[in-house]
Amino acid sequence: KRVAILISGGGSNMVALCRSMRGDHPARPVLVLSNDPAAGGLNRAREMGIPTAAIDHRPFGADRAAFEAELVKPLLQAEPDIICLAGFMRVLTAGFVNRFAGRMLNIHPSLLPKYPGLHTHARAIAAGDTEAGCTVHEVTPVLDDGPILGQARVPILPGDTPDSLAARVLEQEHRLYPAVLRRFAEGDRTPVYLA
Ligand code: GRF
Repeated sequence: KRVAILISGGGSNMVALCRSMRGDHPARPVLVLSNDPAAGGLNRAREMGIPTAAIDHRPFGADRAAFEAELVKPLLQAEPDIICLAGFMRVLTAGFVNRFAGRMLNIHPSLLPKYPGLHTHARAIAAGDTEAGCTVHEVTPVLDDGPILGQARVPILPGDTPDSLAARVLEQEHRLYPAVLRRFAEGDRTPVYLA
């Protein structure tokens, strides 16, 4: 299976996914695509010998459709079977999402359905939750919704800040996403639950 990975920043999830696809694996990375030409993850992808592309979203302003019309070109050129959003920070329109229905995944740093959207760790701490985590789900037109393909949980510890909690969750993201991708690439949509 051909996998395209969309990033916006450092790409630590993208790196974890690409490393997991080395050796005996049903999938391989064919493109790392960013909405920010300066995204650090693009350099990390290039170091791994993976083709990259970037479409800067800023010149398009609020015209999401125009941005997506450009973004989809390198994506279609790579002929992906699976698309992984990994730290991708742009909201995608229903029109874009529906083109890849059933084969686009995302990782979100909360235990969905709790805390869709941004600032998930601050919200969990403020709510007095004792645990947090991350979720991999199929992307549907509704933001941070869609069938859950995996979750990993971590404790929220006394004195945790959003940053300390984010670091603990990110470690689990790097375990969860590769586990889900392997299973998904084999055609198995049974959710992965990591302790
Ligand atoms: C992190 O906040 C992570 O929780 C979320 O996207 C952000 C950047 O991730 N999934 P990455 O290092 O670019 O993969």
